[in-house]
Amino acid sequence: MVHPEIEKRKTFAIISHPDAGKTTLTEKFLLFGGAINTAGTVKRNKANQSSTSDFMEIEKQRGISVATSVMGFEYNGKRINILDTPGHKDFAEDTYRTLSAVDSVILVVDSVKGVEEQTQKLMDVCRMRNTPVIIFVNKLDREGKDTFDLLDELENNLNISVCPLSWPIGQGHNFKGVYNIFDKQLNLFKPDKSKITEPVIQVNDLEDPLLSKFLQPKELKTLQDDLELVDGVYGKLDNDLYLEGLLAPVFFGSAINNFGIRELLDTFVSIAPSPKSREANERMVMANEKNFTGFVFKIHANLDPNHRDRIAFLRICSGKFERNKFYYHTRLNKKLKFSNPVDFMANEKSLVEEAWPGDVVGLYDSGNFKIGDTLTEGEELQFKGIPSFSPEIFKEVENRDPLKSKQLEKGLQQLTEEGVAQLFVQQPGNRKIIGTVGELQYEVIVFRLQHEYGAKCAFRPLTFRKSSWLTSKDKKNINEIIQRRHHHIATDKDGNPVFLADNDWTLNLAKRDFPNVEFHSTSEFN
Ligand code: G4P
Repeated sequence: MVHPEIEKRKTFAIISHPDAGKTTLTEKFLLFGGAINTAGTVKRNKANQSSTSDFMEIEKQRGISVATSVMGFEYNGKRINILDTPGHKDFAEDTYRTLSAVDSVILVVDSVKGVEEQTQKLMDVCRMRNTPVIIFVNKLDREGKDTFDLLDELENNLNISVCPLSWPIGQGHNFKGVYNIFDKQLNLFKPDKSKITEPVIQVNDLEDPLLSKFLQPKELKTLQDDLELVDGVYGKLDNDLYLEGLLAPVFFGSAINNFGIRELLDTFVSIAPSPKSREANERMVMANEKNFTGFVFKIHANLDPNHRDRIAFLRICSGKFERNKFYYHTRLNKKLKFSNPVDFMANEKSLVEEAWPGDVVGLYDSGNFKIGDTLTEGEELQFKGIPSFSPEIFKEVENRDPLKSKQLEKGLQQLTEEGVAQLFVQQPGNRKIIGTVGELQYEVIVFRLQHEYGAKCAFRPLTFRKSSWLTSKDKKNINEIIQRRHHHIATDKDGNPVFLADNDWTLNLAKRDFPNVEFHSTSEFN
């Protein structure tokens, strides 16, 4: 028997390539869920995509997004938790980590642009954990791609089977609405950004004479032909395949016009999984176990320079979390209790007394937590998360104020623990190298080191472009590569050896010269 509190929770993220409509859809969900009353409440969590000079703006938004990092609301008797992910591509790693804390995702695709670079990367991450995915094709009010072509593109580029549950009638200026295949309903499109109802016409089947009242003969014929093909090619939704992450139901709509949202949300609520189980290094942890367990997937700095404390976001995996109870921090081997844990409803924070699997609580932290840390009631456990991926840019840290070396050290350690960037250390001399996926993070680091830690630094570009984590059955082989290629060797935050390569050629050369060493492109491997 699964506890009803667990059964009612649906914890997910809305993800997309920037500009496809993630923020708009999030806001519309909150609007439909009654969590907010007016549009415009959810702050655009993005900055000018092309510029790197607006990090101040991003930082401000990061401040705001503490409140919008998790948005909880009740809908149809369920507790919905939306975990927010940053829009800017330079913060993609943040998004990947957040995906380790959700039970499913809704992927938004722009009907005009189709599958974009970030769409593909995000799906790769979803597939690492077989996360169930629902796809929402947005912006049907614009002249977009042919629907069959788009579905092919989704299947081929995202490497997942699809099953349309609704079907668009026309697009752009000629967009008439969608036919809901599942419920046999015609939903007529009326461009309207303020109303949240849409005219729904219930029909018996595609031959129902009622349809010809609303559709031109040509439109109706095309719809009938399309759906015959759809039935033959895609068939009915297999729920098990969806839950295994192998099949994605597809919906069509226009988020800005509130169109297609209700059916998406209703279907999501009925088919998306509640918290089930989660893999730890030691064993599988089931959501309905009696004892509490959870892990930290995100750490957010407090932007007030007078307060160094941070908020650690804890995803609850099993049992019940209670305020003021002692829990065991497995990495530090230490008991901690939290007197002010917060939970997030819509865009407000409030004190939480208890929380259940699927929920995310914010814990005020003065430096105890790193991303990935596990809390239990005493058991030695370490949840598996999302590994670190290879950065694409590497720069050496130069201390610009020798009197503040300690502050610099501490700041770098804390910022990298927050996941702002990856820290590598190279010998001799403890040279510190910061690896990132975007230039923006360097600006953020310089700014935050100065404002929060009083330290000054600059960055010297390095030629490395890739990091590979090294293992070998025999430690002797690792020592040999460390000795012979020491210019390319560093250690990561956990002290593991990493090979830094300028390009594929140097990497392949090293692989050839050290056949007994394994090179891993992510920090987690079996
Ligand atoms: P993101 O979070 O994925 O980056 O996307 P966001 O929701 O911010 O949407 C990106 C742009 O697309 C916004 O326009 C938004 O209004 C628009 N948009 C969202 N849904 C639809 C839709 O169904 N149809 C059309 N035509 N546009 C849509 P913007 O000009 O960048 O911002 P704004 O000035 O509208 O706020």
